[in-house]
Amino acid sequence: MLIKKAYEASERAYAPYSEFCVGAALLTASGRVFTGCNVENASYGATNCAERTALFKAVSEGERAFSAIAVVGRKRGGEEQLCPPCGICRQVLAEFCNKDFLILLTNGKETERYTLEELLPHSFDRENI
Ligand code: THU
Repeated sequence: MLIKKAYEASERAYAPYSEFCVGAALLTASGRVFTGCNVENASYGATNCAERTALFKAVSEGERAFSAIAVVGRKRGGEEQLCPPCGICRQVLAEFCNKDFLILLTNGKETERYTLEELLPHSFDRENI
């Protein structure tokens, strides 16, 4: 279900520069799902990734605890491909998600599962301050 919603979100990507469409579906601890897509910008650097779009939507709606995220990427009109979250998204996820938070990546045929700890080991977070 989460992967299907991530794919649907990728169809709403605003990606006129890279033509790389990403969708994410974030599951809250309370069972709600928030989706997000990448939103690019002519300045490039102001681009927001799909994962952060989903997370910021959820946090701005009052959610603070999360269980899992599914991510789907594909060139516009192309096949799905594994799309690991970028470093900035991993760091932003670590602000709200525990080490056992689940990250699902799929290319439509096979799905890879990682914990946040696996993708961002030895992270800098609030415990370090
Ligand atoms: N992108 C995401 O949305 N999530 C990722 O995990 C990796 C990259 C977006 C950013 C940009 O719009 C496009 O993919 C190409 O980098």
